[in-house]
Amino acid sequence: MKGVVLAGGTGSRIFPLTKVTNKHLLPVGKCPMIYYPLAKLKEAGISEILIVTGKEHMGEVVNLLGSGNDLGLNLTFKVQDQAGGIAQALGLAENFAGKDAVTVILGDNVFEDSLCDFIANYQKQGLGAKILLQQVKHPERYGVAELDDNNQVLSIEEKPTAPKSNYCVTGIYMFDAQVFNIVKTLKPSKRGELEITDVNNTYIQQHNLSADEITGWWIDAGTFDSLKKADDLVRAGKLDEQVLKLLVPCQP
Ligand code: G1P
Repeated sequence: MKGVVLAGGTGSRIFPLTKVTNKHLLPVGKCPMIYYPLAKLKEAGISEILIVTGKEHMGEVVNLLGSGNDLGLNLTFKVQDQAGGIAQALGLAENFAGKDAVTVILGDNVFEDSLCDFIANYQKQGLGAKILLQQVKHPERYGVAELDDNNQVLSIEEKPTAPKSNYCVTGIYMFDAQVFNIVKTLKPSKRGELEITDVNNTYIQQHNLSADEITGWWIDAGTFDSLKKADDLVRAGKLDEQVLKLLVPCQP
């Protein structure tokens, strides 16, 4: 299992904080936002990680993280030339992933739970995809899962006006190497992007997607309000202290 952190996009919802810097470098507690997904991957035993970001901010991201050696990680970087969507960014990970499965985290997802059990569940299931769901008050802001009586995912709708459940699809995904073939078949959505929701719907059609519920707090820190909330939750639970302890060099 390898890791992919998607840290592109323009951060338009929190402009002008993102006028000169990348959203994923903004502070959350005592750490830059991108430390949180990196630490969650490391905690789950994944140290080989690809970071995808736009060309405007790659320099700053590399300045912060370097090769990853100082954080006990082995990092690779890939430039997304235009903000063409999450699935387009994921497509850039094809060579990095090779035949391996990947755990993909959106760089602005800050959350409490460890990924260890979810990844173990995914590995038991064999190939395919896994998504993590969370019950939220405003599902219309996210990808929303439609579930049957056995909690199997029937479909996912991206930011629906009439959500079919209150289960939002978090930005934490596990995929096998088939994901790259699926990305190549996608067409841009109404917002002109290749959507991760279309990737997941393809896995659903192939009966190859499972879902687990993530019950600890989870935040998509892409708006002013959610950025503030992530900061509050991180400080209250001292998640930043844990992350700083996790991301230290491995002693020889
Ligand atoms: C993206 C995905 C959406 C998902 C969300 C989670 O939305 O498209 O399905 O629920 O991340 O963070 P975006 O933040 O790009 O609007």
